[in-house]
Amino acid sequence: MSHQIMEVPGSDWEGRQPVEALTDTLESGGVLYFPALAFSLSQHELPLLRPGLRAPKSRNISQPARGVVKGAQGTVEELQALSNMMQRYRHQAVQLVHGLFPRYSAHLRLEPTSYRPTEVATRTQSWRADDKRLHVDAFPSRPNRGERILRVFSNINPLQQPRVWRVGEPFESMARQFLPLIPGYRAWEAHLLRGLGVTKSLRSEYDHMMLQLHDHLKRDANYQKNAPQTVVEFAAGSTWVCFSDQTLHAVLGGQYMMEQTFFMPPQHQYRPDQSPLGILTRLAGHPLQGAPL
Ligand code: SIN
Ligand code: FE
Repeated sequence: MSHQIMEVPGSDWEGRQPVEALTDTLESGGVLYFPALAFSLSQHELPLLRPGLRAPKSRNISQPARGVVKGAQGTVEELQALSNMMQRYRHQAVQLVHGLFPRYSAHLRLEPTSYRPTEVATRTQSWRADDKRLHVDAFPSRPNRGERILRVFSNINPLQQPRVWRVGEPFESMARQFLPLIPGYRAWEAHLLRGLGVTKSLRSEYDHMMLQLHDHLKRDANYQKNAPQTVVEFAAGSTWVCFSDQTLHAVLGGQYMMEQTFFMPPQHQYRPDQSPLGILTRLAGHPLQGAPL
């Protein structure tokens, strides 16, 4: 397995001792892989393993920390069972992250939980939305000014099919290649997008760079094919964790996955200089209007 993937034994979601090497791997853009850490469904949740539960027009089924399930269709009973399952997953993901990274605990913001019942390999999407291409996560409408995107994923496939990812090179070497291609940040444009309601808050120079990197990476067929990358199979019944704004990733195939997102200001990392904001600020040579490091 690649040096960017660190396997961690253990099958319980709590009581885990924080280990420095895990944080080092995570903050340098690696993936922590827990092959035996399963999110188990109860008997009455098994019928939720069907792709038709996703409403046709929605990308994923999701549920905010305080709110109702979005993007799903089904009977009242099914939607209630789905909501319970998603809350249970959120609870376990929170326990895991708090156990592993106690220093982050007070600073994490809980973002939506998602359930992805659709087979990835046969799904067609526009190039920008296509997560089958290597990318770092960045949100067009939700500027985050350098906040970290920490994600916990669990493969709940009942047929033992793995979730297959490609994991790319370190963020900094990617950024060094692509930054020279990126058009400069224009503050007036950011204000216009905000005024038109395209973005929910002002897009900072950091957000501009991250979105441009996301788009350039996904559009570049040569990069997709020839950039350094490792195929990783996350087994059914496993869990993995990464900073998805930093880890270059693409999903090739798999069906039925849970995911929990957390946001965190980078200054609460052990090594803020290793964050995308830290790296891009260093490479740009000036502040990027992100959160102060
Ligand atoms: C992504 O975050 O790009 C998608 C990951 C997945 O669906 O496995
Ligand atoms: Fe992604």
